[in-house]
Amino acid sequence: MDFNNLQAKKENGIGWVIIHRPDKLNALNSETVRELKTAFSAFKEDAEVKAVILTGSGEKAFIAGADIKELSELGETEGRDYVLQGQAVTQLIENFPKPVIAAVNGFALGGGTEFALACHVRYASDNAKMGQPEVKLGLIPGFGGTQRLSRLVGKGMALELILSGRVIDSAEALRIGLVNRVFPQAELLAACEGLAREMMANSPVAMNLSIEAVNKGLDKTLPEGLAHEADLFGRACASEDSSEGTKAFLEKRKAAFSGK
Ligand code: COA
Repeated sequence: MDFNNLQAKKENGIGWVIIHRPDKLNALNSETVRELKTAFSAFKEDAEVKAVILTGSGEKAFIAGADIKELSELGETEGRDYVLQGQAVTQLIENFPKPVIAAVNGFALGGGTEFALACHVRYASDNAKMGQPEVKLGLIPGFGGTQRLSRLVGKGMALELILSGRVIDSAEALRIGLVNRVFPQAELLAACEGLAREMMANSPVAMNLSIEAVNKGLDKTLPEGLAHEADLFGRACASEDSSEGTKAFLEKRKAAFSGK
């Protein structure tokens, strides 16, 4: 896949999506958002890709936010349409049927934090800086930050970050649960790859159903979420993967999952 602002590659079952706008600290202009949609859509359909890692090129930035030059030119209708396009991509990532890991390798501000929030797991480098500084521009988070940040770190912490526009370091991001783990910069990508490989050894069917159960469950009451979990558990039981996984355990061998 050839892109102007992304590098997308497949390596041993892992799809890498690397945002590459080095002169703009990987800020997301509309073209980059469109390219992200194309890359993730392609990896979704590609049976050889079992997990995806999203990161930024270079050692300074994951994504330094939405492109402020573009933001400066938006009116009401264009602004709404602009964020709807970004939100569509964050939803594609959030509901991706295979694990998506954010390798937050530097500045992840505004849209950068929001794209990281859409991923299933966030690992960060020790030099990562995260935040939702939109209010400093007279704007609000628009790629899901007001919704996903509060769901992940709680309403009080989300509002503190959003209303102050404060940029936090990796230690603080870890402390509040915004990222799962922190690594020295030089070890980040290997750690993400290691996590992807750990996940890829598991049943693709079960991982897909787990993602659905967790995501949909957050929009439901607890009894509704439990009922949905029971339905999905039934679907898992009917899969070839569960026959293989349980049989392999009983036969004391490693499971070989077909993903069916
Ligand atoms: N949109 C557009 N361009 C951006 C950008 C963004 N979100 N973030 C950085 N850039 C550009 C800068 O304008 C600069 O371009 P130029 O060389 O053509 O002037 C280039 O990237 C390098 O950024 P610079 O500010 O010189 O780097 P720095 O190391 O001094 O500062 C940041 C890094 C991340 C602190 C700073 O760039 C910044 O605050 N960016 C905006 C972050 C933000 O508010 N994001 C949320 C947007 S909703």
